[in-house]
Amino acid sequence: MATRSLLESPITDAAFAEAQLSLAGRDLCSIADLSTDEVAAILSLAHRVKRDPAAFRHALDAQQMVMFFEKPSLRTRLTFEAAMNTTGGSAMFVDQTQSPLGERESLADMARNVERWVQAIVLRTYAHETITEMAQYAACPVVNALSDQEHPCQALADFMTVEERFGGSARGIRFAYLGDGNNVCHSLMLLAAQLGAHCTVGTPRNYAPKADVVAQARAIANMTGSEINLLQDPVAAVEGADAVYTDVVTSMGFEHEATKRAPIFKPYQVNEALMAHAHPDAAFMHCLPAHRNAEVTDAVFDGPNSVVFEQAENRMHAQKALLLLLLGAKLPS
Ligand code: CP
Ligand code: NVA
Repeated sequence: MATRSLLESPITDAAFAEAQLSLAGRDLCSIADLSTDEVAAILSLAHRVKRDPAAFRHALDAQQMVMFFEKPSLRTRLTFEAAMNTTGGSAMFVDQTQSPLGERESLADMARNVERWVQAIVLRTYAHETITEMAQYAACPVVNALSDQEHPCQALADFMTVEERFGGSARGIRFAYLGDGNNVCHSLMLLAAQLGAHCTVGTPRNYAPKADVVAQARAIANMTGSEINLLQDPVAAVEGADAVYTDVVTSMGFEHEATKRAPIFKPYQVNEALMAHAHPDAAFMHCLPAHRNAEVTDAVFDGPNSVVFEQAENRMHAQKALLLLLLGAKLPS
């Protein structure tokens, strides 16, 4: 495990101030929307709000946020609500699981209503375009709380967790993602590249991450000096890794493929035998919810190197930091 000091800040005060200005009023649809300094600013503020939550108790006083979710959620909903409630703001939740967005009313008209009442819109959708379209029309910040393409808030919390574990920086660490090349994988690849972490993705042949996202991640990686590798061999993918991450085999919306996928993904199960190929202290990571003894065994999930509940906790801190910056909050000095 690296031993860098947690006091080592990956961003200067001047770069933080510039990122703070540029993030105010912005949307977060994809990790690729963010610059390297903006990512560093969000994560640096996330560590700060975690250390001293009381300092931010009134930072979002009188700010309101609404969440429209087409898919179920435990962590994302509650961590966004907790983030608003503990900074002086409030959150409303609208269950759209029975009524897809854009069906009753166009997204453009919906945006033109909602922006009159709230300061931020948070969306969990099937189609990624539902989020980008809402962002196009709404005057207030729109945040992706998971689409079929990306899960950027998850990735921010995950790399906050990586930074905690590796002494304050993810630069140069070897991050392995195993399983489906899905929404979570896309955001993690992009963020690993932004932070200079090497990322190896191990998937079955027809389940690789989308080529355009890989190309985006590699373009960023070229600038930050990291490497993005795609493999099919699960053992080679985790060889020497500092962190091993997996997600469910069948994401929400793909349930009809569950039976077909189960045998294809069996060799990608994260178990003790597979973890033995990673670094001896390698962290085990999962966005949750997990299907125990499917994509990961109990022994690994409940083992001493599992940081899954730290990741879950950090969802709240990372999203709090994100909201503070997107809503242009005055930060305590
Ligand atoms: N990880 C995550 O997004 O969890 P939920 O689906 O419960 O929100
Ligand atoms: N890939 C999963 C993540 C759930 C948090 C899904 O989209 O269902």
